[in-house]
Amino acid sequence: MKTLVFASNNAHKLEEIRAILKGQYEVKSLKDIDCEADIPETGTTFRENALQKATYVKEHFGYDCFADDSGLQVEALNGEPGVYSARYAVKNGRSIEGGKDEANMDVLLEKLSGIDNRKACFRTCVALIYEGQTHFFDGTVEGRIIYEKRGAGGFGYDPLFVPDGYEQTFAELGNEVKNGISHRARAVAKLAAFLRDA
Ligand code: IMP
Repeated sequence: MKTLVFASNNAHKLEEIRAILKGQYEVKSLKDIDCEADIPETGTTFRENALQKATYVKEHFGYDCFADDSGLQVEALNGEPGVYSARYAVKNGRSIEGGKDEANMDVLLEKLSGIDNRKACFRTCVALIYEGQTHFFDGTVEGRIIYEKRGAGGFGYDPLFVPDGYEQTFAELGNEVKNGISHRARAVAKLAAFLRDA
């Protein structure tokens, strides 16, 4: 069986991808290869950041590897928070004492106050370094940002995001529905299809 490193320690993402590639690939986490580095993510696009992480593992540990980078892009904010999604509040000089996700969402709501165009999308890019070649797999889910947080599930900006074709937020829809249509699920499905045929 071939070995691939997923440049992540996110237990949920690892479990998901291992289930999909079961029997075909052994998927190791960063922890599994004793990589304790805080891998730099200094790119200005999801693609650059994903590639940066995968390249780091290939160069320092020698394994074929894939990495993902995701975030929210809001049309009226010229694509913000984008690659800063995880650190939007900090980037805007806010305290994250009450929780990072809450603070990020509060900044987003403030920036959108008085703005009617609520169009937004989540995007994921997966970069794969495989047998000497680099491949990218993108996933997007379109939707809109509502005016108040709703729902207790999910993470990140889920309580503010209603995907197109639905009335509930990602946080209200629950993981099963979300994982069927999410940006990450779509990018990972493309990665898995490629690897199955590789
Ligand atoms: P990551 O690259 O998957 O770690 O995502 C970076 C940041 O984007 C997260 O910390 C969240 O703020 C945001 N984000 C990414 N995916 C989602 C999602 O599915 N729901 C809500 N927020 C997300």
